Amino acid sequence: MNILIIGNGGREYAIGRKLRSENSVNKLYFAPGNGATLNLGENLDIKDYNKLAYFAKQNMVDLTIVGPEAPLTDGVVDIFKANGLVVFGPTKQAAKLESSKAFMKDFLAKNSIKTASYLSSSNIEEISNFIDKISSDKIVVKADGLCGGKGVIIATSKDEAKKAAKDMLSGASFGEAGSTVVVEEFLDGFELSFFAICDGKNFVSLPVAQDHKKLLDKDEGPNTGGMGAYAPTPLASKELIEKIENDIVKPTLKGMQDENTPFCGVLFVGVMVVDNEPYVLEFNTRFGDPECEVIMPLIDDNLGEILFDAANGRLKNIQIKNKFAVGVVIASKNYPYKSSLKVPIKVREIPVKSHICYAGVSHSGVEIFADGGRVLVCVGVGKDVKEARDNAYKLCENVEFEGMQYRKDIAYQALR
Ligand code: AMP
Ligand code: GLY
Repeated sequence: MNILIIGNGGREYAIGRKLRSENSVNKLYFAPGNGATLNLGENLDIKDYNKLAYFAKQNMVDLTIVGPEAPLTDGVVDIFKANGLVVFGPTKQAAKLESSKAFMKDFLAKNSIKTASYLSSSNIEEISNFIDKISSDKIVVKADGLCGGKGVIIATSKDEAKKAAKDMLSGASFGEAGSTVVVEEFLDGFELSFFAICDGKNFVSLPVAQDHKKLLDKDEGPNTGGMGAYAPTPLASKELIEKIENDIVKPTLKGMQDENTPFCGVLFVGVMVVDNEPYVLEFNTRFGDPECEVIMPLIDDNLGEILFDAANGRLKNIQIKNKFAVGVVIASKNYPYKSSLKVPIKVREIPVKSHICYAGVSHSGVEIFADGGRVLVCVGVGKDVKEARDNAYKLCENVEFEGMQYRKDIAYQALR
């Protein structure tokens, strides 16, 4: 099989790394890829999706996998399909589950799927009235469009919530993405990242993960794209998983079919568990990053075939290893505030049961440079969370670049 992966992060590296280990995979292309995906396949510098589809046809690409949300929102799947290509990912319309919070919240309401009570509006008076009616002082205000995980404000007073909504509507805080605002009640519980591979009708669940969105230990500091993850989490009991599947994933797939926009791709449910009941915080229509980096080493089956079958509407079951994985993100000095200077990365040794997934890196000859916010992910695998965590941190100690920073408490919720 020849496979094209769209994206340039650690997630795409992790998918590529898994595919590279499979005998059935021949050529592997990344568009655009990063300074380390070159060691797994070939990087393509083709930005226009029509030209990329042309390349895929000319080079007999059997399957295209879309990593990030932006190309999905731009309709890359529609373009590839129109060219008769097999592509794993949702169409532009189906990707609205992620690209528009207002669409997602309305969809949940329509299909009776549990979520925080909310109002989506562009009218500040209507929003202020809704805020006044919320019983708690903690109120969540979100920009409707995509903001790279940063468009959410948790206000601690009604006045702060109103000001946040006003700033979003004026375009001052998030530009066009804030022209519609979603205000919702604050849910107090623990979060899970739930992934289902979907073929339009059927789905298969993957090991349940937990992300760590804050920059610093003890969940302090600013929000980031994610500073580490682990899977499977013991916080997701069998009973809870069944509830998520029956009360969220199944009605979502059915609802999307009813709207004539069947969902094919990865349905990533951001779940908040309150009193053992799962609520949808958000949908993403792709693998999480860094969750993907810890899920890939747990898949026992041939990933290329799984995603090819899903893209063709005939998903099969997936074998999962009886193991655990922990991923620790190593970020650059100024992350998430601004970009850092490009600096060389030294890796002294890769201890057993660990590996690196490279993300924000560039290269020069054989040397790899830290050249982005989240630079790489140290992944450890083990028979339990503790062993996986220890293996991940042993690897972190072998990585060196100027200004590097990482959390020391990844997977703490599973280990306390
Ligand atoms: P989102 O982009 O919607 O996933 O929100 C980003 C983060 O904000 C989530 O991962 C939660 O930690 C937090 N958050 C979002 N909505 C709520 C809510 N209704 N209640 C509590 N926390 C929330
Ligand atoms: N790690 C969360 C995300 O990918 O959105």
